[in-house]
Amino acid sequence: MNKKAEYKTEIFTGIRPTGVLTVANVLGAVNPLLELQSGGMRPMVFVADLHGLTDHEPDVIKSYVNDVVVDYIALGLDPKKVDIFVQSDIENEVALFTLLLMRHITVSELIKVPTLKEKLKTGNRPETANSLLATYPVMMAADILLQRSQYVPVGEDQQSHLEITRLIAKRFNKKYGEVLPLPKPQKVKPLRIMSLSGGGKMGKSNPSGAIFLTDSSKEVEKKIKRAETAFAKDMPSVLESHFQLATGLTDDGSVLEKVEQIRKAHMSGEKVMGDFKETLSSIVQDFLIEYQEKRQKVLADTDLIKNTLEEGAKKAKINARETLGMVKEVMYKRE
Ligand code: TRP
Repeated sequence: MNKKAEYKTEIFTGIRPTGVLTVANVLGAVNPLLELQSGGMRPMVFVADLHGLTDHEPDVIKSYVNDVVVDYIALGLDPKKVDIFVQSDIENEVALFTLLLMRHITVSELIKVPTLKEKLKTGNRPETANSLLATYPVMMAADILLQRSQYVPVGEDQQSHLEITRLIAKRFNKKYGEVLPLPKPQKVKPLRIMSLSGGGKMGKSNPSGAIFLTDSSKEVEKKIKRAETAFAKDMPSVLESHFQLATGLTDDGSVLEKVEQIRKAHMSGEKVMGDFKETLSSIVQDFLIEYQEKRQKVLADTDLIKNTLEEGAKKAKINARETLGMVKEVMYKRE
């Protein structure tokens, strides 16, 4: 008799080790995680270093892994409340499971995945893009299904990936029996913090319009001073996103109140953009100073990261091996 697999992980999510984070990453990726951790469940978070191989060399990715863990902990992720592991600590399980799952999705389905199509439009061509880009969603399915995850927080960009995961799991179950529990998407509200110097989203590709967590107060001041604003009463999405940045980086009631007043004054036709920039700048500077101090403390605690990742890997490996055991049992025992 097959053992029917049950959920093992309530909430599961991945973070990409991509080097220095920006304040937009804090709002878009870190804050939602902090909300989850205070929500009473125990999320499992992993650093998706194998996924980084789609566009970076292994040694480059490796150098980012520790940093991103230190960053997330400095930003409030609590190793006592979440399990954190590094994907390559269970690389054999991930690799084998990815391979086994690839049989349940067709080439034509993979090349229709919107994130791949987008990538092939912007820079990569099918003739030159490495095929790990195309199998990315299958490895993501392996990550999720190995931990037998119930909920996966997804923004818009990851929705199609989760659908692929569900599709693969359904096909597997149909063929071999109900082995893999289906993960459910947990919708994350979209958030697009825009660059301070125009040209779309705030991100690494446009450093003069992005505030990095390593920036000094001087740099912050300079970048915000030069930022685009808007005429009184006008609230273009760029400015709206900078208001979101201001309110997302502080929980000081009187500061939040001040931002609200500036917004109201702006909408009623007053010229307050100078005030806004000053306030935003001081919010960001305070945030970064606190973060940078915390980061030093986390770094000084040499055992913290090591122990956290060891514990996380142990748990992830137990789950992964158990799942793979069940998968192999049903696959290899068929007659
Ligand atoms: N694809 C995700 C991203 O780009 C990272 C990721 C990889 C992930 N595997 C995952 C997220 C599994 C959630 C679950 O952000």
